[in-house]
Amino acid sequence: MNNDKNKPSWISRLFKQSGAQAITADDKILYGHRYHDSLSHLRSPFNDLFYGAEKVQPECLIPADGHRHSASRLSNNEPGIVQQIETNSLRASNDKVHPVGRSSLESQLTLVRLYDETPDTKTFRFADRTGRIFDYRPGQYITLSLVIDGREYKRSYSLASSPSRPRLLEITVKRVPNGIVSNWLNDNLQIGDEVAVKGPYGKFSCTPNPPPKTLFLAAGSGIVPIMSMLRWLTDTAARADIRLLLSFRSPEDIIYRDELGLMLNRHDNISMDITLTTDQIANYDWSGLTGRINEQMIQQLIPDLPERGVYLCGPDAFMAECKKSLLHLNLPPENLCCESYTVNSPATRTGSACLRSATINPTGNYQVSFAKSGKTVAADGRISLLDLAETSGISIDHECRCGDCGMCMIKCLKGQIEMTEQVEIDQTDREKGWIYSCCSYPGSNIVLDI
Ligand code: FES
Repeated sequence: MNNDKNKPSWISRLFKQSGAQAITADDKILYGHRYHDSLSHLRSPFNDLFYGAEKVQPECLIPADGHRHSASRLSNNEPGIVQQIETNSLRASNDKVHPVGRSSLESQLTLVRLYDETPDTKTFRFADRTGRIFDYRPGQYITLSLVIDGREYKRSYSLASSPSRPRLLEITVKRVPNGIVSNWLNDNLQIGDEVAVKGPYGKFSCTPNPPPKTLFLAAGSGIVPIMSMLRWLTDTAARADIRLLLSFRSPEDIIYRDELGLMLNRHDNISMDITLTTDQIANYDWSGLTGRINEQMIQQLIPDLPERGVYLCGPDAFMAECKKSLLHLNLPPENLCCESYTVNSPATRTGSACLRSATINPTGNYQVSFAKSGKTVAADGRISLLDLAETSGISIDHECRCGDCGMCMIKCLKGQIEMTEQVEIDQTDREKGWIYSCCSYPGSNIVLDI
């Protein structure tokens, strides 16, 4: 039992998230763990305690001003144990559109440790010099702002760390061909350097309702937000039945290999299969699975799939294939939570950022005019308007670059815009010409109000 009367709210929240039951006695709040044994339904053994207790209000991480800020209040009526990702939450009022349910706080963090995970992947551990505590949900992501060669870049990266270790934030970044920010981080960021960070963002998280039976399905860097959730689940001694099915190219590409092995040894509620996709498998001492994850593999390895909450993260092609297989194998759609790190425009969106993918690929030869800047540039329809503006020296406010925060909204005055289907802008705003520039592409000659 723990007495937390005078401790900060994040500790209370951690106890509650871990399934602890609150009891008030002698003017003190005591927390103790009590788990249900039944795994026969998908509601978590945590749920009754979590929702039965006072509603916990998720608070923004990285308080910039020393005060806590409310991000959003948990609903009493969460629709499902695992929710499909919503693409944004925007509230329209007249011509003004405000992001809601998001932090707009910013913090300068210091790199305190660097780890080589694989030959081309590093983990970056950050702390706040003032010792602030980070409060977020495992699986969420943050946005880094960096100035490289005089130009500002903002990129989103999934958190690898767990809020159960609240004084440190970790991201894991893989080098990618032609990647600007991911490669720069790998090559240049040194211990003691500071970076500007905003967040948290995203709903790809197993909290607050971790299902008692979980399947984590990931390929490559898609393991990063999964590791955040795994660390949280193991740190909080969650008694969920956890299966991992992971895909990497070769043994040396297995990110977190040692830590995953340690987790398996120490937690008998976790089991894992890794498949390797290299066609040079004969060059390795590997006796495990080979080939891409497919329907047959899932069926054989996960016979109780429909009972599980599934968290899926990886490149577009992997996601599409897995989604098709999972649904064909009778996984209820409401049990599937997905996030893709494949990026909209290959020239600028790279790395392990957990970003929603574009679902359109318009092409053509168009003229994009920036009315206020007086510039007109050619576009082939394959680069987002945010990227196009940046490469033209025109600045647009933005954070997530994936249709999540709403910061990049601009007005299109003329012409046809193709927006990724994940973007949900209120119909009234659409009719007024508002678009998310990070997820919009020219579908004709267009004029933008910037
Ligand atoms: S919606 Fe966040 S930058 Fe575009």
